[in-house]
Amino acid sequence: MKLLKKNAIILLVAFVAIQFFRPSQNTSHGNHAKLFISETNPSQDVKVLLEQTCYDCHSNNTNYPWYNNVAPVSFWMANHVKDGKKHLNFSEWESYSTKKKDHKLEEVIETLEEGKMPLKEYTWTHEKAKLTEKEKKLVIAWAKRSRALYQLKNLQL
Ligand code: HEC
Repeated sequence: MKLLKKNAIILLVAFVAIQFFRPSQNTSHGNHAKLFISETNPSQDVKVLLEQTCYDCHSNNTNYPWYNNVAPVSFWMANHVKDGKKHLNFSEWESYSTKKKDHKLEEVIETLEEGKMPLKEYTWTHEKAKLTEKEKKLVIAWAKRSRALYQLKNLQL
């Protein structure tokens, strides 16, 4: 019993101490995915879906929930954002070649079809990010159309 109490106190102290450490936040102002939007030209519906379900981890702007102020959630989230952006970043679309853009959209289609994205842990807390079959189809159709445009562009180069 005594040991249990001691452990609880150690845990509590560690929890309080870790609150003093904050990972840097991923936030941008203004139109951070401008080129991506102008090139792929999503409908308003698709644009909102991407913003609500993918941008938090795949753009330079994350909308943080209040509990992100609490460590270790903040660290967990920062890691996902870092890792997610490394694989795909809509805010840095201009740094991708036409071929890479096409390939990234191919991956978007695959991850949606396989139900891998958005990450499950994320949809537990982001009810809006759960895509319905209809919404998935809309996003996939937009991605396919954009792929066709990039493939055409690639042929012309
Ligand atoms: C909570 C953060 C998070 C959200 C939200 C999220 N992703 Fe991801 N995504 C990741 C992480 C982390 C990776 C890299 C590791 C992995 O593949 O699991 C990734 C990888 C990817 C990849 C690359 C896969 C590959 O094979 O390299 C694609 C494409 C992708 N995500 C698309 C999406 C799309 C589309 C959405 C929205 C419908 C979305 N993601 C939402 C975190 C997220």
